[in-house]
Amino acid sequence: MPDAGTDVRATHVVLVGLMGSGKTTVGKKVAKLIGHRFVDADVEIEARTGRSVASWFEDGEPAFRAAEAQLMEDLLAEPEALVIGAGGGAVVTESTRRRLREGDVTAVYLHGTPQFLASRVQAKAHRPLLTDDPLMVMQEMYDARDGWYREVADVVVEVLPHHEAGEKPKWRIAEQVVEELIDLHVVDPATVASPEVFR
Ligand code: S3P
Repeated sequence: MPDAGTDVRATHVVLVGLMGSGKTTVGKKVAKLIGHRFVDADVEIEARTGRSVASWFEDGEPAFRAAEAQLMEDLLAEPEALVIGAGGGAVVTESTRRRLREGDVTAVYLHGTPQFLASRVQAKAHRPLLTDDPLMVMQEMYDARDGWYREVADVVVEVLPHHEAGEKPKWRIAEQVVEELIDLHVVDPATVASPEVFR
């Protein structure tokens, strides 16, 4: 068995999935566990462009997608291995999907059914696409994007079992993500912190 500690290939870790799947909360925990910096794509677009996500959408979705694609390109060009919470629609852009499939990126798809995600997704200022019928929106997005998320993903993590298992589901999901990263040899198990330190 190879010694995982000696052949680790650090990559950017990008969490993809629909709104409400937990990319931001889980991503922050993964970053803490593996000691990398976390970047939330929506927060970073606002910081770098000086415009809110909602304001970008006022110019139309294509304007937002262009800004989002540029941000993803810039983040993935950073020399420091980051943990990135992508916006739910990042995979809509073909160039981003291509970039996510490259060898210096590990993409993790946080998968949930539209029904489950619609029951927990919260309306927020950066989610102008979420109408008063979340189930319809999530179903449409799921139908359009599930294949894209799977196309870019190195690993798919099911979120529902962790929510059903009881307390602290986001930590459980983060721990599973880290285990998958260890299996993929992009994280050295010897450097992973214990969740107890942060909980
Ligand atoms: C979007 C998801 C949002 C945000 C924007 C568009 C989408 O990000 O980027 O409102 O198309 O699914 P989160 O998935 O982080 O909520």
